[in-house]
Amino acid sequence: MGSSWLILGVILLSSQVVRSQRVRVLPEVEAYPNESVNLRCEFTNPGSTKLTQVSWIFEATEGHRENIAVFHPTYGESFPKSAFKGRVQFTQASLEYPSIRIDSVRMSDAGRYTCEYATYPSGNEQGTTTLIMLAKPKNSATPVVVQAGSAKVVVARCEALQGKPAATVTWVTGAMGEYNSTSQAESDGTVTVKSEYRMAPASTDNGRDITCMISQRTQDRPQTFPMKLVVQYPPTVRIEGYDNNWYMGRTDASLTCHADANPKVVDFTWTTLSGNLPATAKVDQNRLLVQKVDESVNTTFICEAKNSLGSGKSQLTAAVIAKGKQPQGALTGGVVGGIIGAVVILCLIGAGVAMYRKWLQSAENGDGPPKHKPPPPVKTGSSTEMLHKPKDQTMTVTETQPLSNYAPSYYETTAAEPVTDLDDENLSSPANGGAPSAWEGSGHPPGMDETASDALPPYEPSNHDNVEANHEPAAANIARGESFVSAPMLV
Ligand SMILES: *[C@@H]1O[C@H](CO)[C@@H](O)[C@H](O)[C@H]1NC(C)=O
Ligand SMILES: *[C@@H]1O[C@H](CO)[C@@H](O)[C@H](O)[C@H]1NC(C)=O
Ligand SMILES: *[C@@H]1O[C@H](CO)[C@@H](O)[C@H](O)[C@H]1NC(C)=O
Repeated sequence: MGSSWLILGVILLSSQVVRSQRVRVLPEVEAYPNESVNLRCEFTNPGSTKLTQVSWIFEATEGHRENIAVFHPTYGESFPKSAFKGRVQFTQASLEYPSIRIDSVRMSDAGRYTCEYATYPSGNEQGTTTLIMLAKPKNSATPVVVQAGSAKVVVARCEALQGKPAATVTWVTGAMGEYNSTSQAESDGTVTVKSEYRMAPASTDNGRDITCMISQRTQDRPQTFPMKLVVQYPPTVRIEGYDNNWYMGRTDASLTCHADANPKVVDFTWTTLSGNLPATAKVDQNRLLVQKVDESVNTTFICEAKNSLGSGKSQLTAAVIAKGKQPQGALTGGVVGGIIGAVVILCLIGAGVAMYRKWLQSAENGDGPPKHKPPPPVKTGSSTEMLHKPKDQTMTVTETQPLSNYAPSYYETTAAEPVTDLDDENLSSPANGGAPSAWEGSGHPPGMDETASDALPPYEPSNHDNVEANHEPAAANIARGESFVSAPMLV
């Protein structure tokens, strides 16, 4: 039962459709301005229906009907006064095919066109075609130069001018902002769409990618406008190039002032905390070149960079030191010192063995050993001098060398001790042997200790141990014992 009702319904519905489709028109026609359009119309299967007259009615807006073309089999064609007068004509004068052509279409021609038959006995029958006027929008996009700040401002604009139908604007970007769009109807029937991207621009947003995409019916694909945000901000300044090694007399010291800014910084100003630059410091753009390091550059340098939005400053305190570090670095210096020390140790062992043999020989010959308790004032003196009167260090070094040759003779009474003693001497040798190369040419007593320890930082502790051992050399087997213990650490 139900299914038969359904079938009946379908039949009724389809007969309705067939009936309404007796006036055949295209549902939609598109045209660009100045083109001609054909609006086709046909009365199919009139059967016994009598066609009296056909009219084309234009509806720009709903309910506002206007006759633009009429055909009567007896009275012929008629084109009532309208905006189409002179531009509209029937393509063939017949009731069955009352198609019309409109020339030089305008944007304002967009709307509904109804092909309406007056028939007998069924009355009016009609079909409607919508004419869609197309207009390619004039698209453009541009970033807006903004200043960094916390307020939301427009950072980019995108426009689709005078399009029909209205264009759609979207944005693609990693920026944290939002956009809105407005559509404005133009007098010619087109629509102008404008969109703005807004955000609180940070300096880090400068150069960020942002793309506007405009989609519109007349375009095969969305038109894209890749852009980069332009955010201006005052300079952020940093000084680079200071290597903590501005020693007296150095000729290639320099500082470089780096400024992050938009627009770019063109002027850098170098000053010092005390005011003007020292005579030896020359400015070359963002670089400060120190022609010769002396006390005058032992100061705080300030670099100031300005752009149109403001200025930024940074300062750096240069500490001038007496003598430069080993270029290869402290570690290499230490290794070299260690090698020298090892060589010296070998030599001393050789010398010690030779002397020991000589002593054995003379013992056999009945010669008494030489007095073996001479306090080593020379040694003490030299050590102290070395530490506190570095000006005499050259002498000190030469004194130290022969000392080690004498050393074995102090302790020749026992067989074991000379070895210990040799080690003791050897211990001090590397320290003394390593340091002089760094001290040479240095005429600055205050800097002495610092420089020495700077030169050989890894050996600082054992160095001091040795120094202490050397302080009381008269000593003390204990002292020597300690030195002996620390020997493996060095070698
Ligand atoms: C249409 O044609 C007229 C004159 O032929 C011309 O001035 C006008 O620019 C044209 N419009 C378009 C949209 O092409
Ligand atoms: C976006 O919104 C702001 C504030 O609501 C308004 O002033 C501006 O005109 C709008 N811009 C567009 C293109 O819609
Ligand atoms: C550099 O200045 C500091 C303190 O401002 C001072 O301690 C140091 O001795 C000075 N160095 C030289 C080489 O004048």
